Amino acid sequence: MTAGVAPAGSPAAIRYTRVAVSLHWLIATLIIVNLAIGWFHDSFAKPVGSALISGHKAIGLTVILLALVRLAWRLSHRPPPFDPVMKAWERWLATATHWAFYLLMLAAPVTGWLMVSANGRATSWFGLFDVPALPITGGKAAHEIYESRHELIGYLMLALIVLHVGGALKHHLQGHRQLFGRMAPWFYREA
Ligand code: HEM
Ligand code: HEM
Repeated sequence: MTAGVAPAGSPAAIRYTRVAVSLHWLIATLIIVNLAIGWFHDSFAKPVGSALISGHKAIGLTVILLALVRLAWRLSHRPPPFDPVMKAWERWLATATHWAFYLLMLAAPVTGWLMVSANGRATSWFGLFDVPALPITGGKAAHEIYESRHELIGYLMLALIVLHVGGALKHHLQGHRQLFGRMAPWFYREA
């Protein structure tokens, strides 16, 4: 389902639902934490670094589940129509960015899972239970391929976040505060 454009001057009821907002911020936080752990775990001593990577894997597997729920929700619920202050090219870019996010929020953890599965090892979910390895072959060579894809997707994700936050910030600084309020209703509520 695609978003239309709200008629000019329409009321602030045009915002994401509580479920969409909760899933957005939960998944965004987990992804940002995982990017940070992925890039900086090496700076910590071994026991801490290893614990961080175990957490990284468990968080990532959780993101797969949450992203599937979010995608199902998105496909079955029409998003609020775009704010009329957004120009046609901004609406196009926002739509492209959002769908690229849905793709990457699954591709990032799945390539990570494939990478560790190449070693044939199950992944512990916060020490509570084991998530089995995916049935893939190829050993070390497969591990390296998925590792480089996982790394590349990390950079693509960062580029999208910069674009996405930049877009939100641009409108915010231009005085269109209601746009941020669409996804952060506690931050801005129109009368
Ligand atoms: C990894 C981090 C993030 C991801 C994966 C993400 C993903 C998304 C997606 C997919 C949508 C579109 C929802 C839809 O219509 O289907 C969206 C909307 C939105 N996001 Fe994010 N987001 C992230 C971080 C952030 C951050 C840090 C901000 C704060 C500046 C933010 C602010 C917004 C706003 C304001 C909207 C609503 C846009 C509109 O339609 O007016 N997001 N986000
Ligand atoms: C939200 C999902 C995820 C994101 C955003 C993410 C991101 C990253 C990033 C940016 C790196 C550093 C890559 C580099 O530059 O070398 C990394 C490393 C890694 N990730 Fe993920 N990842 C996610 C999920 C997963 C999952 C689900 C697993 C496995 C089950 C996993 C396993 C690993 C491993 C083993 C490393 C390499 C650690 C090392 O040896 O340096 N990741 N991840």
